[in-house]
Amino acid sequence: METIQATVSKRLLSKASRLFTGTLDGRIIEILQNARRAGATEVTITNEKGLVTVRDNGTGIEDFSKLLDLGDSDWDQAMEEAEDPAGVGIFCLAPRKVTICSNGKKIVISKDGWTGKPVELTKVGDSGKGTVLTFADEPWGLSQVKRHAVFSGMKVIVDGKTCPQEPFVSSRAAPHPELGCRIEVRNRDHLNQWHNQWRGSYFCDDILVNFHGQVVKFSYMPVHECLCYLVDMTGDPTGIRMMLPARTQLIQNKAFKALKAAIEKEAYRFIQKRGGHALPYEQYKRAAELGIKLPEAEPTFDVGLLSGDTPEPIEVIKPKDFPLSKCYRMNSERLEDRENSIANVHLLAALGKFEEPFVPVSISMTYDGYNWAKLPTIDKVDVKVGKELGKNYVWSQVLIAVESIKIVAHTSDGKVFESDVLMAVLTPERAERPWYGADHVYVTPEAREQLNSSDIWYHLGGWNDEGDTYETQQYQVEEELEVFWSTIIGPGEYLRSKIAGSLDGIKGSWDNITIDTDRTVVITYKDGSKKTLKSPYVARKKS
Ligand SMILES: Nc1ncnc2c1ncn2[C@@H]1O[C@H](COP(=O)(O)OP(=O)(O)OP(=O)(O)O)[C@@H](O)[C@H]1O
Ligand SMILES: [Mg+2]
Repeated sequence: METIQATVSKRLLSKASRLFTGTLDGRIIEILQNARRAGATEVTITNEKGLVTVRDNGTGIEDFSKLLDLGDSDWDQAMEEAEDPAGVGIFCLAPRKVTICSNGKKIVISKDGWTGKPVELTKVGDSGKGTVLTFADEPWGLSQVKRHAVFSGMKVIVDGKTCPQEPFVSSRAAPHPELGCRIEVRNRDHLNQWHNQWRGSYFCDDILVNFHGQVVKFSYMPVHECLCYLVDMTGDPTGIRMMLPARTQLIQNKAFKALKAAIEKEAYRFIQKRGGHALPYEQYKRAAELGIKLPEAEPTFDVGLLSGDTPEPIEVIKPKDFPLSKCYRMNSERLEDRENSIANVHLLAALGKFEEPFVPVSISMTYDGYNWAKLPTIDKVDVKVGKELGKNYVWSQVLIAVESIKIVAHTSDGKVFESDVLMAVLTPERAERPWYGADHVYVTPEAREQLNSSDIWYHLGGWNDEGDTYETQQYQVEEELEVFWSTIIGPGEYLRSKIAGSLDGIKGSWDNITIDTDRTVVITYKDGSKKTLKSPYVARKKS
């Protein structure tokens, strides 16, 4: 029978340096890691004349042959179980010329030495405790080294300056010996700058794993809340494995799944300890499933049914101390013309007059199930509009002025809330549609005085983010509204109100104001005094 067997080809030696990204960070990580594994408590790095020297006070190298044995290591069994060494790290320095001294011996590995040429091992006098590596490289500066040193547990000195050392987690971290790690949940703002340098600044789903100084991250968001999860490997045996050789990513094995499960539990425990939360109902139930009893979420709701800020809709106000249980939720399932019904209920609540408050609130469906979210509902909405006074396209909808508008809302607790209002929105009958998608916005003449133009603009489509600036568009819509009102109220009234409106800026109590063909304005005050304002432009033209 013919057989074959797996082997490692020597060719791999010539490519070993390419197992690493070739970055300075990668080299710093590997060399610090070896020192730490050798039990070093202190590493001294010096940069001189293009040469980098790294000296550690670890146990030193016993078997130099393991250094150049691609794939073999000489750490003990405990290290094997905790860290899963790959036996390739030192090759990150290939093909550089590297001098290594340890335990009274010295080797110089040069280009061919990395790929198989025998390297001579020489004796040196007392080389001191630990290991010294010297090689040509760009400077290993403090700023570059300190981020890899901070969580390594070793004192690292770069050209005489000591790198900061921080614990990766605090004593609050929960031990998970089965995974060889501790897990700590923190609020984002309780991370230090060293944690933050590894975290993306925007997303909430970064889990940071400290593999003895080397931080690896992955994305996972067990609960709907921006929390940070710190996983600190303790050095105990673990099934958690990093992708080799560079260890920049976790392997998705059984232990990884168990780690995620442990993180999820810790998240709920953190929330339980803190007390209040705003988690969706599903997650409240999930916590219970995991044996972690949480209180119900804090009532989370918005007053009114419309939202947005370009511009904001007219505000619905909940009286102080008015209980949520007396507010209403929209029963969107049973409503016809859903979107406009929501708008009309909002407008009814914002503009209507009632004996007892009518306060619709918006609660995300993810809260369905909590007791506080069970509110009576608004099941039916009617809008009655009076005689039409005029209509026109304004902005991106059709604006119609009518004599009166009444909105009626029927609720599941048998109440009827009805009131005259200044504005409502309706979807026109198909045949009436001026163009697809345009709504009919109804206003009464009083709306001109009593509503802000932005209250109306909201229903006319609001700010178009592909167009001009907000202010420019606001100005445009106000102009369009002015023209609209001028046709509704008649040209005489329009002119009168324009002129009258411009007098608002005059201070003091005046009796009458005249203006002549020269545009000269004379203000006569109640006390009989007069003020004459001549147009400088006209005055100059005359002279
Ligand atoms: N600073 C050091 N002190 C003592 N022994 C060392 C040191 N650096 C390397 N060694 C020895 O050389 C061997 C090879 O080191 P190398 O970094 O190539 O692989 P490794 O650390 O075993 O595995 P990994 O690929 O995970 O780095 C180590 O197993 C260790 O026996
Ligand atoms: Mg190594």
